[in-house]
Amino acid sequence: MPKNDLLLRSLRKEPIERYPVWLMRQAGRYMPQYREIRKRVRNFLELCKNVELATEISLLPLRLLGVDAVIIFSDILVPLEAMGVEVSFQEGEGPKLRWSGRYEDLKPYSPEENAYVYEVIKRVKSLQDEVPVIGFSGAPFTLFSYLIEGGASREFRKTKLFMWENPKEFKRIMELLTEALISYLKEQIKAGADVIQVFDSWVNNLSAEDYDEYVYPFTNYLLSEIKSFSDVPVIYFFRGSSSFFDTAVDYPADALSLDWSIDIAEAFNYTDKALQGNLEPTILYAREEVIKERTLYLLKRVPVKTGYVFNLGHGLQPDMEFKKVKLLVDTVKSFPLT
Ligand code: CP3
Repeated sequence: MPKNDLLLRSLRKEPIERYPVWLMRQAGRYMPQYREIRKRVRNFLELCKNVELATEISLLPLRLLGVDAVIIFSDILVPLEAMGVEVSFQEGEGPKLRWSGRYEDLKPYSPEENAYVYEVIKRVKSLQDEVPVIGFSGAPFTLFSYLIEGGASREFRKTKLFMWENPKEFKRIMELLTEALISYLKEQIKAGADVIQVFDSWVNNLSAEDYDEYVYPFTNYLLSEIKSFSDVPVIYFFRGSSSFFDTAVDYPADALSLDWSIDIAEAFNYTDKALQGNLEPTILYAREEVIKERTLYLLKRVPVKTGYVFNLGHGLQPDMEFKKVKLLVDTVKSFPLT
């Protein structure tokens, strides 16, 4: 049990002294120390596979920001690489993926291919017992959209046409991805992950009906399998939170991580689950007193004394200022709960 188990207690809705805080993309280019380490390797994937450096980076936010959890340093795309997809990251362009587009050309997933991820979890656990360690994966649909688009996309046209026009092929690929993610996350739990977060970053573009038909069944199966395997708390992050909240409350996840499209006070009216989020990240570009004011405004609206975890509605950006991120964390940590 980590010395500071606020995150675990809040996810289980046990009494807490203050709200726990961690940030999506808390280890990244906005940190000078990250940029320094990044220079030592040729590319980002090499960094993910370098257990020593990935461990060091995972721990940076604990030392420099004082967050209440460490998320392991990796990327949601590494299991796709293990399935034979060519994945590369061009500076400033985001990820690029190459694959024939045929089910037959996806390699059956073997979790050993991502052994470096489990090693990072073990190392981070052995080097500190202060805070819980978060393991993660992408959700099936978000990975599917990367596969089909070949990178970031604005309207996800190829993804949508594929799922509408080739429902059988869509289902086969989604099943393959879902099974892969189940074994990937099980290995992370075996390696010692205290919490799992599943990122569904790119569902926000779907209609509510399409979400129910094309996303829900696979995500539900993934989350159910993980919950039946262990009692490690599971957080489901999804953009488009206001559109799909009604559906997401039915998942067997312990917590939902929300973007800023939904009012946090309102959301708590419709679920007994723990909730995480949902500060609009752009606030971090504002003046310090504005950051403080907006953060306190959000915290005051949270209607529960436990079962809430502070986070942003999406990840930190490379051009955000470290000083402001630190101010954000300190503001949450000094917010009195009584
Ligand atoms: O949160 C953390 O600090 C842990 C590490 C982490 C990274 N990516 C590191 C990273 C996590 C949890 C992710 C998840 C991830 N990756 C998501 C889900 C979260 C979200 O933001 O919605 C997504 C969609 C990806 C795909 C991805 N990988 C993108 C869009 C990018 C950014 C591309 C860019 O150039 O900005 C990456 C690369 C990436 N992942 C970086 C980091 C620190 C930057 C790579 C670099 O150093 O050059």
